Amino acid sequence: MMSQKKIFLILVAVSTVSLLLHQGGHLSWTMEVFRMNCPSLNPPQTSTTFKHTNVVFLKTHKTASSTVQNIFFRFAERNNLTVALPVTHCDHQFCYPRIFSSHFVHPHTMPPNIVTSHLRFSRSELQRIMPNNTIYITILREPGAMFESLFSYYNQYCDTFKRVPNGSLEAFLDNPWAYYRPQEKDSMYARNTLTFDLGGDKDRPSADVVRYAKRFAAEVEYVFSLVMIAEYFDESLVLLRHLLSWDLEDVLYIKQNMRMPSSKGNLSEAQLGKIREWNAIDAMLYDHFNASLWRQLNELGLACVAREVKLLRRAQEQMIRSCFGGNLPQLRSAAEITNKELRPWQPSSKVAIVGYDLPVNASKESGMSKDMCLKMIMPEVQYSKQLLHVQMLRYRSRYFLNNVLKPSGQHQQPTGSILRHSVTPGRSPRARSFHQTRQVGSHN
Ligand SMILES: *[C@@H]1O[C@H](CO)[C@@H](O)[C@H](O)[C@H]1NC(C)=O
Ligand SMILES: *[C@@H]1O[C@H](CO)[C@@H](O)[C@H](O)[C@H]1NC(C)=O
Ligand SMILES: *[C@@H]1O[C@H](CO)[C@@H](O)[C@H](O)[C@H]1NC(C)=O
Ligand SMILES: *[C@@H]1O[C@H](CO)[C@@H](O)[C@H](O)[C@H]1NC(C)=O
Ligand SMILES: *[C@@H]1O[C@H](CO)[C@@H](O)[C@H](O)[C@H]1NC(C)=O
Ligand SMILES: *[C@@H]1O[C@H](CO)[C@@H](O)[C@H](O)[C@H]1NC(C)=O
Repeated sequence: MMSQKKIFLILVAVSTVSLLLHQGGHLSWTMEVFRMNCPSLNPPQTSTTFKHTNVVFLKTHKTASSTVQNIFFRFAERNNLTVALPVTHCDHQFCYPRIFSSHFVHPHTMPPNIVTSHLRFSRSELQRIMPNNTIYITILREPGAMFESLFSYYNQYCDTFKRVPNGSLEAFLDNPWAYYRPQEKDSMYARNTLTFDLGGDKDRPSADVVRYAKRFAAEVEYVFSLVMIAEYFDESLVLLRHLLSWDLEDVLYIKQNMRMPSSKGNLSEAQLGKIREWNAIDAMLYDHFNASLWRQLNELGLACVAREVKLLRRAQEQMIRSCFGGNLPQLRSAAEITNKELRPWQPSSKVAIVGYDLPVNASKESGMSKDMCLKMIMPEVQYSKQLLHVQMLRYRSRYFLNNVLKPSGQHQQPTGSILRHSVTPGRSPRARSFHQTRQVGSHN
């Protein structure tokens, strides 16, 4: 015989469980995280009330870095941050492949919060323009896929590759020294490109390579708080988000600057071996930082990371639905894209770089503004130009305020962080509108 008390308790338990099940669809991620002891999706307000805003993202070549750059551009724009942009004669890169100099920065984009355009890394020169609480981040890619991508992308652009008969990767790898000249213009696309971008020596004599690579990896690790890995892009974004105390909405993205799948090659084991040998410093850097990425992911907890990745992808799908009505905007080869604002730069007509064309009737009543949807898929050259334009206007109005209206006024210095918006505990992050990030800094 069951006592009434027991029956009552069972009833309470059953209804609690059914209530939870009923809510299953939108069982908030915060609750799941709580159960799993994951770090909160929105860091506790007491310890990290601020989002970090002073960041150098070293944009490396052919590593999905355009996608990360686009994330930083949009974050900067939403939060009125200043993005350092190159002076006109540097083109849209900081006079790459020259080593970075503070003179390459457009004066109307000073003092910056964020640096994210291509440059060859120099810590001391960046320190001259960046606040001392700046966080350094970069991204690497597996050397085989990376080199295959460089070889095909710069096939008609880089002299080393132009010399190779029939544009054959096989032929190049059989005897790279027959085509490669270390001192030649654009030679950095043909060997240890990541090492070069990071400011290192791509042509270290082979007897010294191992010692040099170890020392160089240690230097990079000392300066960069996070080295993302392209093969684990979403997992890297989770680490990025935690490092900067950003919201999930801040790291939503659509892949940028890709090739048509048909123009990608497949590598044999032998080719991969040759590529790693030819790019030995890059290969060692990659292995080092892939290992440290996984160490960091383990520290966060792989189950927690997996959940957050899942949530990111869900939010991404929702964003795509809201921006483009369900499907991604159509992938087109760059040559076919009619909207000039959306056509990516191509090194040659032979490389099928794809971009997006906006559907004519992209949803309007959705949470995201048409402008923000457009920016998601806007290639870097066009986006850089727009940002420069906006920042020049802002610079002039500030200059006018400071020097004409209030001659004694001080110029504003970047503080390094902005206030987070208030977060209602237990509210599903998915339910929050993308617009809310716009309020960063104005509340709480
Ligand atoms: C950004 O600047 C614009 C124009 O000056 C202003 O209206 C807006 O509130 C600012 N947004 C934030 C997040 O500071
Ligand atoms: C960073 O700069 C601020 C002001 O410019 C200064 O007060 C502070 O001591 C510096 N911190 C470090 C670690 O150099
Ligand atoms: C280049 O292609 C031509 C014709 O396709 C072929 O005859 C020749 O052997 C190739 N050369 C090399 C070095 O592969
Ligand atoms: C590479 O392999 C994929 C599938 O494994 C195939 O679809 C693609 O056509 C191959 N590419 C080349 C260039 O052989
Ligand atoms: C990266 O490191 C992980 C963990 O050690 C390993 O499983 C994976 O194979 C590595 N990835 C590559 C592309 O080397
Ligand atoms: C929007 O696009 C969809 C799918 O292409 C189409 O069915 C629909 O008629 C379009 N609506 C308008 C108002 O153009």
